[in-house]
Amino acid sequence: MALGENHSKEKKHIALFVNGEKVEADIESRITLAEFLREELRLTGTKVGCNRAECGSCTVILDGEPVYSCSMLAVEAAGTEILTIEGLANNANLHPLQDAFIEHDALQCGYCTPGMLMALKALLDKNPRPEESDIREAIDGNFCRCGSYSNIINATLDASKELLGKNRSNHGDK
Ligand code: FES
Ligand code: FES
Repeated sequence: MALGENHSKEKKHIALFVNGEKVEADIESRITLAEFLREELRLTGTKVGCNRAECGSCTVILDGEPVYSCSMLAVEAAGTEILTIEGLANNANLHPLQDAFIEHDALQCGYCTPGMLMALKALLDKNPRPEESDIREAIDGNFCRCGSYSNIINATLDASKELLGKNRSNHGDK
């Protein structure tokens, strides 16, 4: 038996919320949050590119903050609320960011897209009126190898207007 094998295979019980649903599982303490989401929960919308905190394709929102799910252990997420790309749409209605990405052709191969969307959702939740510089900063850690950055920025500016309009109508302003 290899040194440390026992320790790495030791299972821990975790409970957390993923896309609004309570999830409980017994998992090996060595698995990353990305592995847990993709392999245990089959939420494969979260992509793993570099697997070492460099590309941002694995970004999910944890307690309101964007995090690289490849670079934290699933056991560290116990007790938190996670939002993944699968939880972004409201049933059949895409999130305004998703609509705007389609409208602006903000994806080519799409591999970076789930991570981009989650980083930008976290931004718009905190800052509903971002400047272009805020958007650039929010996706500073998300690489798009297809170079769709300008379309991503324009899509985000449009989505922020759309969300502000929706919030105003929800509050009865016309
Ligand atoms: S896969 Fe996590 S940052 Fe690249
Ligand atoms: S659309 Fe291909 S990596 Fe961004």
